Formats: sequence, C-alpha cells, structure tokens
Amino acid sequence: MDGIVREMVRKMTLEEKAGMCSGANWFETKSVERLGIPGIQMFDGPNGLRKNSGKSESDSLGSYRAVESTCFPTGSAMAASWDEELLFKIGQYMGQECLAEQVPLLLGPAVNIKRSPLCGRNFEYLTEDPYLCGKLAAALVKGVQSKGVGACLKHFAANSQEEKRLSVNSVIDERTLREIYLTGFEIAVKESDPWTIMCAYNKVNGKHCSRNEHLLDEILRREWGFKGFVMTDWGAMKDRVDSLRAGLELEMPASGEENDQAIVEAVKRGELEESVLDRAVERILRVVFRARKAADEKAVYDREEHNDFAAMAAAECMVLLKNEKRLLPLKKGARICILGEMAEKTRYQGGGSSHVTTGREGSVLEELGRKGMEFSYARGYSLEGEKDESLLCEAAKLAAESEIAVVVAGLPDSYETESRDRVSMKMPEGHIALITEAAKVNRNVVVVLINGAPVEMDWEMRVCGILEAYLGGQASAKAIADILCGDVNPSGKLAETFPAKLQDNPSYLNYGMDTYEVDYREGIYVGYRYYDKKEMNVRYPFGYGLSYTDFEYGRASVDKKEIREGEEIKISLRIRNAGQVFGKEVVQLYVEPEDSRNRPLRELKGFCKIALKPGEEKEVCFTIGERDLSYYSAELGAWRVKEGKYTLCLGSSSRDIRQRCEIRAVSFEGIPTVICEDTVIGDLLRDERCAGIVEEMLEVYAPEIRKKRDGIFDNMPLRQAKLFSKGSLTWETLQLYIDKLNQATGGRDSF
Ligand code: BGC
Repeated sequence: MDGIVREMVRKMTLEEKAGMCSGANWFETKSVERLGIPGIQMFDGPNGLRKNSGKSESDSLGSYRAVESTCFPTGSAMAASWDEELLFKIGQYMGQECLAEQVPLLLGPAVNIKRSPLCGRNFEYLTEDPYLCGKLAAALVKGVQSKGVGACLKHFAANSQEEKRLSVNSVIDERTLREIYLTGFEIAVKESDPWTIMCAYNKVNGKHCSRNEHLLDEILRREWGFKGFVMTDWGAMKDRVDSLRAGLELEMPASGEENDQAIVEAVKRGELEESVLDRAVERILRVVFRARKAADEKAVYDREEHNDFAAMAAAECMVLLKNEKRLLPLKKGARICILGEMAEKTRYQGGGSSHVTTGREGSVLEELGRKGMEFSYARGYSLEGEKDESLLCEAAKLAAESEIAVVVAGLPDSYETESRDRVSMKMPEGHIALITEAAKVNRNVVVVLINGAPVEMDWEMRVCGILEAYLGGQASAKAIADILCGDVNPSGKLAETFPAKLQDNPSYLNYGMDTYEVDYREGIYVGYRYYDKKEMNVRYPFGYGLSYTDFEYGRASVDKKEIREGEEIKISLRIRNAGQVFGKEVVQLYVEPEDSRNRPLRELKGFCKIALKPGEEKEVCFTIGERDLSYYSAELGAWRVKEGKYTLCLGSSSRDIRQRCEIRAVSFEGIPTVICEDTVIGDLLRDERCAGIVEEMLEVYAPEIRKKRDGIFDNMPLRQAKLFSKGSLTWETLQLYIDKLNQATGGRDSF
C-alpha cells in the first residue's frame, strides 16, 4: 500500500495536503474527491460506540443523543476483570458495532494511569499499574482491530487529572515518566499496533503534548516504532506548524482554514520542509485506505446477543470485597430487603465523551424480581444523595424487619464525569446515612457499591458484605443480580488500591491544587508502589478480590536460578479449586528486587486468570525477562538490570503473596558512571576492578587510614584521600589515579 499512498501524495497540491492534516468537521477527516480520497469518521469511545446522529455536531462532552449502541463495562470495571481474553472480546464486540455503523475508527481505549482517586475520568481509565494497563489495553486494541476497525490509544501522555486539563503542565522526572506514565502506552503500541494515538491536552515538562517532540517523535516513533498517526485531543492544537514537525499529524476537530493556511505559508516561506508535510499525509492516508479496505456495508450485529455478552462481561468485572458469615450468595427464602434508590435507577456509566446512548436500562430490582427473588424495597435516599429523614426512617424500618438488608449505594452521576475532578473520596451523605442506619438495626447488611473509582468506607466494619460493582455498562444490573444470587461466582480483583482515606494517597499534597503546574512529586511511588513500600494500612489492596470458593496455591518452581542478558526464566505452579463451586482466580506475579532502596518493594510483572471446577487443578506458567527486572536509568536514558537477587512472588493480591522463588541476575552490564574525585572510596573498594588501584593509592599516600575497615570509607570521596595524605597526594597524582580507575572500568562502574 505504501507505494500507492506515496503516489497519491505526489499528486496532491500543497493546499490539499495541508487540508488533510485537520478534520472536515467534528468527527471526520477531509476527502479529496478528485483523487478518490474518502473522509473517514471517528467516534468515541472507550466502552461503546457513541456515534453522533449529526455529522458536524460539536459534542465532545457527550451531551447530544447518539445512535443507540451497547454500553460495555467502563474502564475501571473492565480492568478489574484482569482478563485479557475478555477485553479482546469486548474489543471485538465494539468493533462489530462500528462496522455496522460504518465507523472505521473508534476513539478508545483511554489508558491514563490513576494517579489520584479523584480524577474525574478514572471510571474511563484502567488502573494504577502500568504493566496491567498495557496488557489490557493491548488486548482491547487487538479485539477492535481484528474487525478491521482502527483503535485510538488516548490520552498520550500524563493526563491524570481533569482540573485545568487543557492548560496544566505536568512536571515529571524522566524515570517516573517512563516507568509509570508511559509503560502502558509502550506495551500497547508494541503488542497491538494501534492505528492511531490521541495526544493529551496538557503539557508535559513545559511542552504541550501536541507539540512534544520528546514524546511524539523520540519515544513513540523512534523507540517504540509506532506506525499509525497521531491526532490531537479535541482542541489540543497549540501551534500547527511546530506540531507537524514534532510528529502530530491530524488536528481534530476542524479548525477552520487558519491552521491549514499556516502550513501552506510555512512551506512557501521555507520554514517547514514539504517532506515533513508529505510524511504526515502519508501516515494519515495509510489509515484512511486501510479503513476503506475493511469497510463492510453488509455488517450488522444482534442487539440481544450484544446485551447478553455485556451482562456476562460485567459480572466478570465485579469485585467481592467482603463476605463475612458467607452471607453471599443470598439464600433463597430469606427475608430480604433492598435499600437505596440506585437499586431502582441503577447507574452504569460515567459522564462526558464516553457516554453511550443505549436504549435499554436495567435495574437491580427488576433483575432480582426476574430471578423470582422475593424482597421488600425502600428508596432510603434521593438519587443525588441528599439525606432525607423520612426516606431514611422508612428504610430503617424495613431493615429492622429483615434477615438481610442489601444496600445499593455509591456515587451519583454528577460525581464522576469528564472535565471535572472529584473534591473528595466521600460518598454522598444520604448514602452513608442509609448504610449506617441499616447497620444499626440489622447485623446482616450487604452493600453493593456503584461507582467508577474508590470511595472512603468508614462504615466498612459495620457491614458483613461488600460487592464493588463498579460502572458495569448497560447490563450491570443483571450482573449484580447474578452475583448476589450465586448464579455467577465473582472473580474480579481491584486494579487500583482503595486507600483508607484520601490523605493517604501519595499524590495528596500535589493534586487538585488549582494551579497551572502540577508536580508529580511522589515520583514512581504511585498506588500500591507507595502503600506497600510504606507498609501502610489500606482499605483494600491492589489485586484483591474474594470468591465464593477457595483456591490453593501449590509450590512454585523456576526452570533455572540465574538470568543473564537476553535470557528468560519460567516460573510455574499449580492452583486448585478447593471449594464447592466453579470459580476463577487471578494469579499475580510480582518481582521484588533484594536491593529495593531506590525502587518499589514489588511490582506486577505477570497475571493470569484461570477457571476451575470444584476440585480441579491447573498449572499456571509465567515468563520473566530482562525488562521485568529493570528500572529506567535517566542518567543513561535506558532500562537497566541491576545484578543481584530478585524474588518472584506469586499471590492473590499485592499483599497476599503465597509463593516465592529466588533468582539471581548475573552478568548484566553495570551502570556506567564516570569516576571522579567525588566518587566514594567504599564503593570503589567493593568493585574488584577498582579495589587494587585504590588500595595501592591509600598504601602509598595514606597508610594510616588504609587498614581501617570500620565504615570510614563508606561515605568518603576520593578527594578526601588528599587530606589524609598530609599534602603528599597532589591534584595531579589524584587525577592519574582517577584516569586509571576509569580505564579499568571503561569509564563505567556499577554502583
Ligand atoms: C476527550 C476525548 C474524546 C474527544 C472527542 C475530548 O473532550 O478528551 O477523550 O475522544 O473529546 O469526543
């Protein structure tokens, strides 16, 4: 196709080429009729298609009605499934709906890292962990693209807040950027080859993402080999010509003629090489023709089947957080009351550009009724969450008369939407009051939470059961009923930590400050990387989730004990379903470096969801490579493995490690650091390449302190040897030793 595209670009006029680099309207690229170049449409979003009914309606915040389509579980829910196969299928289902609606590009998935629980779009995003993020995003992209529809990874990069999202400058050190905020994109780009990427609105280290050469060119294209095109988020263009140079191809939506004209002028004035424009147009056209090739005018989909799949998917995403007295699943025949208006009007998605028009909405009450469940019901609060004494009294009365009280509560629509962050992690007063009042009169309270991001749960000790249902898409209510009644055994695990309170979150002192500059001061310590390192109490840890059955972890073993550059190690173990019902377990692999002084305690590097019948046992196997042991050295601009011991930890959450195997990383290239007068003697004495040279220098110039081994050298730099030489060691001689040391190590050491 490359030849055809190049030929096409050759035939285009300068004006046509410049025009190709911005939208024709709100959701479509321009066509060039004389050359048979079609415009292509693109629509949101991450958990279902939101195809606007009118072509050029300006609706990036989702306020207009769109064509009806299926709303699948939102990002945070999907991620809690920890199931790549499921995300691949969700992608396929969404892709099929795009085909049926003649939409060749879907604007999702949204994969920004959850830095704070407060980000207004957390419900759209996947997780706080970059590895999990990348793997799940790749699965989703592969699913969508397997249908011949392009996906769009967004928002690149470090768009972890809504406050001042169009102007804010995210100040992040390079290591943190690479290890936390870019790794998810990197994995997804390398593994799933997305057709497009959307840049974020914000700046990163002083430069808007739309013109950030470091991100768009150096990293995305050169290092990761991204082959598609990059578009702006809607209105994120800052300087059209500069962006083109930096590697931003398509400006969305239409910008009027102004920016197209700016490109034409810049080329004419010799300020922009025409080849840069040609390259951008080629990249756009490759996707346009790919889309045309895949278009299927006969494509249809079966709404019922898609709804059934959405229900199945939603049930895979819900997380059972607590189940004392094994109150769940609910026993048939028990006297049950359902409390809380969310049971009647069940919320299932968030607000903004991801909002899907579904045409069908279920409620927990209806779905429980459909199962023949008998129960009484009271509203308990008004939907927006205000406390209402009379509603509360009525609900408390029912709770007192029932054996089990199920309270459906969480966050109302207004709390979770694009373009606004939450101000606290608290649930509305009315919801909290309902839970606490019910718990006063009934000792068997089960709470079903409906929300897209963590909430504070000061009431947690007073209730027996908690099901985190998230925002599970249009068939969410059915999935909740399936789990409450035991027709589905819950198998979701948290893809984010639930801290006890907002103040515990590592970004707390630097988030939501109403400033134009935000320092990512917590660095690499995001989510569990922080809580686990600090050994802090959390409400529920990363990776956590219960089941109606129990799993036993067998002994883990590795295929070898040492790993060298370019090699891999396999670790495996057997998992058994030791309970009475079918269930699924997510086995998680974390890597713990023995020397974790400048690193998180442990980091996720593998996961696998397995299904087991009662009594059944299966083997789970993971492969660990160099990158899984490495950290990003900003000094070198590269990933590096430090030699030494690493523990491979297998478990059921970041805090529930069941099996450990030790391995050693050997023969890895050291970290080159030029040795200078400030290099510490203790470090040199521990390096066999340097020890002899330093010993000799000390012997000659400072024999009195040479013999000392009581830690005196640990923090003493080379230049201090001068002091102890009583003037005999000159700067010149010291420099000779330093040169010798650099020669011995190749200008490198491994400290
Ligand atoms: C959002 C994007 C979305 C775009 C188009 C923007 O406001 O940030 O995620 O794809 O609008 O609707």
